[in-house]
Amino acid sequence: MNPALSVKGLTASIASKEILNGLDLEVPFGEVHAIMGPNGSGKSTLCHVLTGKEGYEVAGSALLDGVEILDLPVDERARLGLLQSFQYPTEVPGVRLRDFVYEAAVAHGVSPEEAEARIDKEAARFGVERFLDRSLNDDLSGGEKKRSEIFQMAVLRPKMALLDEIDSGLDIDAVRQVAEAVEEMRSPEMGTLMITHYSRILRYMTPDRIHVMIDGRIVDSGERELADELEAGGYESVRQRLGLTRPAVAAERRPSEFFTETPFDV
Ligand SMILES: Nc1ncnc2c1ncn2[C@@H]1O[C@H](COP(=O)(O)OP(=O)(O)O)[C@@H](O)[C@H]1O
Ligand SMILES: [Mg+2]
Repeated sequence: MNPALSVKGLTASIASKEILNGLDLEVPFGEVHAIMGPNGSGKSTLCHVLTGKEGYEVAGSALLDGVEILDLPVDERARLGLLQSFQYPTEVPGVRLRDFVYEAAVAHGVSPEEAEARIDKEAARFGVERFLDRSLNDDLSGGEKKRSEIFQMAVLRPKMALLDEIDSGLDIDAVRQVAEAVEEMRSPEMGTLMITHYSRILRYMTPDRIHVMIDGRIVDSGERELADELEAGGYESVRQRLGLTRPAVAAERRPSEFFTETPFDV
C-alpha cells in the first residue's frame, strides 16, 4: 500500500532564497505525524509547496497516494485528496458553516445525501452543532475555529490533511480539545500532518511520529522521547545533540523569532 504522502528531496526557494533544502518525509495512511520546528524553519513553506501555492521554485518529489503532485495545479491536488486547513481562519459573514462545508464536499465529488449525512454525523462527533447554522467562524473563540476546521476535514475526508499551526494562540484548555479532535479524526483512509511550533500539544496526544524541522530539513524523527526532549530543552537541545550550528545571518530573520526559539508556552 502506498503511503498517504511521500516526500523526497524536496527543495523550494523564493526570491532566490532557499527555504526547503532536501526534505524527506513519509506519512502512512492511518497515521498522525507532527512536524515541530522553530519559527522560520520552513514549516508553512512546506504546506504551501505541497498544496501548490505559486511563487516558489520547487524540485524533488511529493507523492500523494503514489501520484506525483508537484507539477499539478492547486485544484487538482485538492481533488486528489490533499487538503490544508487555514492557518488563520477568516470570518466569512453571511455564509453558514453548514452550507460552506456542504458545497465543498459536493465540489469534491461527495453526493448531496452523503454530504448531509456526514455533516450531521461529524458535527455531533466534534461538538460543532452549536455553530453549524451560524456564519462561518463568526464570533467563535480560537479553539472553536480550530474545531470547526477539523470538523470540515472530517466531512471532506481528504487522503492527506495538513494542519498548520493548529494550536497557535490557544489557551491550554483549547489546545487539549484540539489535540483530542485531531486524534478523533484519525482514520485508516487518511494521513495527517500536524505542524506546530509549540510542544505543549504533545502533552495531550501521541502522534505516531514526531519530526523536527530546522533550516528547511527534517533533522530528527522519533516518538514520545523526542516530545519529552523538546518539552524539557527546546530546539536548542536537539541542535546541540545533533551538532547543528545556529544560523549565522541573524539579521535576515524576523525580530519575533529571537523571542520564540523554545517551544515552551511561557
Ligand atoms: N515570500 C517570501 N519571500 C521571502 N522569504 C520568505 C517568504 N516566505 C517565507 N520566507 C522565509 O522563509 C523562511 C521560512 O518561512 P516559513 O515557512 O513561514 O517558516 P515557519 O512556518 O517554520 O515559521 C523564513 O525565514 C521566512 O522569512
Ligand atoms: Mg508557519
